[in-house]
Amino acid sequence: MTTMAKSGVVRVCFVCLGNICRSPTAEAVFRRDVEAAGIAHRFEIDSAGTGDWHVGELAHPRTRATAEQHGIAITHRAQRFTSADFARFDWIVAMDRGNVQALRDLAPDDGARAKIHMFRAWESDAPLHAEVPDPYYSGQFDLVLEICERASAGLLAHLRAKHGI
Ligand code: 4NP
Repeated sequence: MTTMAKSGVVRVCFVCLGNICRSPTAEAVFRRDVEAAGIAHRFEIDSAGTGDWHVGELAHPRTRATAEQHGIAITHRAQRFTSADFARFDWIVAMDRGNVQALRDLAPDDGARAKIHMFRAWESDAPLHAEVPDPYYSGQFDLVLEICERASAGLLAHLRAKHGI
């Protein structure tokens, strides 16, 4: 069973590799959706990467530009996900299977492992085991945003039902 902070706040962390493209997009889209629903006080939302190459940097310029075209400002600075973060979050939402494996390798116990999920698992009509593609080399920044919008809606519906929000 997923544990929840005493305050009734649901803590969600989106995770990718570099924390400059996919997970900052997912974080910003999900925060926008939560704010639009008027339930921001029930959530803590963050993102992190399994790698440390870009720690401290703003999101990729194309990630920020693509989000801005959709009215979303991304101000996040990259940080690395550490094993201590398993205690800080209830839902750890990975962009691809490589992220899931890296997180599983970091997880201190079964309770931590149970918090790890694939973001697209909540996207309606997504193929089974679908991943958010890495745009860093492919340039698919628009596709990443579209996927994040669909998956965010599904994740929010799931968390509202699960936590009675
Ligand atoms: P992200 O994309 O995991 O969506 O932030 C990447 C960013 C940087 C690198 C790889 C993927 N990199 O190799 O530096």
